[in-house]
Amino acid sequence: MTVALKPGWPQRQGRNGVIDLLPAVLDEEKINENKIHETVNDSVSRDLLTKKRFYIDRFEKRWRKVILQKNTKSFLELAGGLCYISALAKLHRPDIEVWASDVAPLYLENKSVVTAQLFGVSIDQFAAVDAENLPFADNQLDAVFIAHSIHHIGNIERMLQEVHRVLRPGGRFLGIDIAAPSNKRAFDKDLKDRAERGDEHGIHEKSITFAGWKEIAVNSGVPGMKVGYENTPTWGASVRRLQNVHKRREISIRFDKAV
Ligand SMILES: C[S@@+](CC[C@H](N)C(=O)[O-])C[C@H]1O[C@@H](n2cnc3c(N)ncnc32)[C@H](O)[C@@H]1O
Repeated sequence: MTVALKPGWPQRQGRNGVIDLLPAVLDEEKINENKIHETVNDSVSRDLLTKKRFYIDRFEKRWRKVILQKNTKSFLELAGGLCYISALAKLHRPDIEVWASDVAPLYLENKSVVTAQLFGVSIDQFAAVDAENLPFADNQLDAVFIAHSIHHIGNIERMLQEVHRVLRPGGRFLGIDIAAPSNKRAFDKDLKDRAERGDEHGIHEKSITFAGWKEIAVNSGVPGMKVGYENTPTWGASVRRLQNVHKRREISIRFDKAV
């Protein structure tokens, strides 16, 4: 393994090859993200084919070309859940070191390892990792990716600073998430829907408008951050912007760390 941890960072061995690299103290919400997996036991293959099929396709057709460059040698997925993106990265680039991570060790131990088996790949390291407090030493990774999870993170600015710290000069970050509608009534409904979904599990999902994402990018102080609407085969970014007045729309946040 070439990616190094911060000196003295505690490591605990979990089940099924997962290592626990979580900080000693974790917020209640992060503990609750793990508790969900004490009871929920859906089929991994069914979830991949129903809930995640669209994102698997998006990675194949679009995100892969952005995040996996010729000189990429190490790849970290944050808040990966089922970690199908890590599995796809390894499938296309068996030569690189892939770290599949999430704050919930039970998610990794019970399900993400099954995803890797279904794709027929061997992930270099499954690790329980808090995206706001990364265990890695500075300048370690060539690529960091996170999909549809940033709005779950408590302090997003801190997460972006941490990603910037652990990327090598020339390394790349790509985050995919959702911009909440800017229209007040549609925004309030988005907020209510997300609160209802999170409340039963004791977690909080944020509603962030496109302007809100841009503000977070600036406030993080990470240089060269770009926030934009995602294209789809049907509609380009300009139509996405108009649709986003009343509907949620997919956005990307990316930066390359200066050399
Ligand atoms: C909506 S799921 C998305 C999972 C996956 N990226 C996908 O596309 O299916 C959000 C994930 O974020 C994780 N998460 C929440 N807070 C986190 C944190 N601070 N650090 C790392 N992962 C976190 C949760 O455990 C959960 O697996």
